[in-house]
Amino acid sequence: MEASAKNHDIADIGLADDGQKRIEWAERHMPVLRRIKEEFSESKPFDGVTMVCCLHVTTETANLVRTLIAGGADVAVCASNPLSTQDDVAAALVDRYGAEVYAIHGEDNDTYYRHITQAVERKPQITMDDGADVVSVLHSDRTDLLEHVIGGTEETTTGVIRLRALEEEGKLGYPIVAVNDADTKHFFDNRYGTGQSTLDGILRATNVLLAGMTVVVIGYGWCGKGVAMRAKGHGSHVIVCEVDPVRALEAVMDGFEVTTGLDAAKRGDVFISVTGNRDAIAGEMFAEMKSGAIVCNAGHFDVEINKDELDKMTAETFEARPHVTGHKLEDGREIFMLADGRLVNLAAAEGHPAAVMDMSFANQALASEWMVQNAADLEKKVYPVPEDVDAMIARHKLSALGVHIDELTEVQAKYLASWDQGT
Ligand code: ADE
Repeated sequence: MEASAKNHDIADIGLADDGQKRIEWAERHMPVLRRIKEEFSESKPFDGVTMVCCLHVTTETANLVRTLIAGGADVAVCASNPLSTQDDVAAALVDRYGAEVYAIHGEDNDTYYRHITQAVERKPQITMDDGADVVSVLHSDRTDLLEHVIGGTEETTTGVIRLRALEEEGKLGYPIVAVNDADTKHFFDNRYGTGQSTLDGILRATNVLLAGMTVVVIGYGWCGKGVAMRAKGHGSHVIVCEVDPVRALEAVMDGFEVTTGLDAAKRGDVFISVTGNRDAIAGEMFAEMKSGAIVCNAGHFDVEINKDELDKMTAETFEARPHVTGHKLEDGREIFMLADGRLVNLAAAEGHPAAVMDMSFANQALASEWMVQNAADLEKKVYPVPEDVDAMIARHKLSALGVHIDELTEVQAKYLASWDQGT
C-alpha cells in the first residue's frame, strides 16, 4: 500500500492490484497528462486545495486524479454514472494513490446521490463534473457549501447545457470552465472517443456483425458524427435522424441517408441515441420497429430512450446476455435494450480509450490550475478553456505522436493580420 487509505465507500479494496495494473497501462497512452503530472509535481498548483471530482471512475480518470494529487490536491472522487464505475480502479485509487472514493459499480440511485453528498461534504474549493451533478447538488440541497467553492470545470456537452441554463437564470454560484468546448476536447473525445467506444460497447454486449446492418444514429453533433462514421466503417448502412437543419444537411453531404425517426424505426437493426435530449427513441418508434431491433444510448443521461413507454408495451423482460435486456412485447416482437438505456460505451465497455482522454483530462488539469491562479478575478460565469491552453495541448499531443508541423513565415503572419492586402 503506497498511501494510507482515505475514507471510502467502494466495492472491494482487494481489487487494487488489478486496478493499478490497468491504470498504469492507460498511463502509457496518456503522454500529455504524464507531462502535466511531472510539471505539477514541481509547481504544486493545488497545495492545500480540496477538489471533488464527479467523473466516470475509469483508468483514465484515475490518471487525472493522480495528476491532481501530484499537484498537491486533496481529492475526493464520486461517480458520474451508477454503471460506469470500474471497481478495481476505485480500489487502487484508495489503496495506492491516496484518494477518497465513493463509488460502486451498479449502485442504486439513492446510493449514487449519497455518494455525491459524501464527497461534497469535504467542502471542495474546486469541483470537477461530468454532467453537472455536483453543481446541481451544491445549488439545491447543499447551498451551505457554495461559499467554499472558488471554481469548477465541466467535462461534457450535457453538463455545459445545464450550466448555461443556471447562468441564464442568474443562479450560477461560482465560475466554471466548460472543458467540453475546448477544441482539443470535443473534436477528439466526442467524435473519435464516442465513435469508437460506443461501437465497442455494442459489440461487447451483443457480438453482432455490423456489416450489412442498418444502423440508425439519432443526433448528429460531434458524438453522433463519430458514431455514424465508425458504423459506416464497419459496413453498416447508416441512417441519421437530426432535428437541426444545418446538421441534417451536413449528414446528407457526409453521405448518410437522413430521415425522420419514425421512418428510420421501420428499417433499423440497431438504434443509437446521441442527442443529449430526452425521448429521442420513444413510443411510436418502438411501435414500428422490427422484431430483433437493438436499442441503446450513448448520451450522458438515461432519458434519451423512453423506457417507461417501452415497458408499457412489454409483456415480459429477460436477460438475453449480460447488458442485453430482451423486451417481449404484447404483439410478440422482441426489442433488445443495451445497458438499461445508460451510456452503452461506459456500461458495456470501458469508455473512451486513454489516448483520447489524454487531451480531455489535460484540459481538466490545466483548467483547474487556471481557476486557482485566477480565482480572485473570475465572475460567476461559464468560461471557455483559455485558447493558449488548448493550443498547447494540441502541440504536446503532436509532439508525443512524433508529428512535426510548419510555422507561418513572418510574411504570412503579417498577411493574415492585414485587411489591405488583396490580390
Ligand atoms: N468518458 C468517456 N470515456 C471516459 C473514460 N474512459 N474515462 C472517463 N470519462 C469518460
